[in-house]
Amino acid sequence: MKHDFRPFLNPVFIETGSYTGDGIQAALNSGFTKVISIELVPHYYNLCKKRFQNNPMVNYILEILLKYYHIYFVK
Ligand SMILES: C[S@@+](CC[C@H](N)C(=O)[O-])C[C@H]1O[C@@H](n2cnc3c(N)ncnc32)[C@H](O)[C@@H]1O
Repeated sequence: MKHDFRPFLNPVFIETGSYTGDGIQAALNSGFTKVISIELVPHYYNLCKKRFQNNPMVNYILEILLKYYHIYFVK
């Protein structure tokens, strides 16, 4: 194995570029308990917000997303 990441396994998935949310869903399906996804384009951010609106875990994710989205623009 060229790169062995097993010593770094953790419950946090970080994604840059949410797009339509397939990466968020894949992370949830894979068992990550905390997902941080960062999206530049408001249209895709709002699309993800709607897609996961009934998932209580994703509400938390979207708060984080909004936080990072804001940070992204003020920097
Ligand atoms: C290829 S798509 C991501 C696909 C997604 N991760 C998935 O698994 O379905 C790229 C996304 O990154 C976003 N993006 C591009 N540059 C970005 C940046 N600098 N910061 C945050 N998001 C960015 C685009 O708006 C787009 O929604």
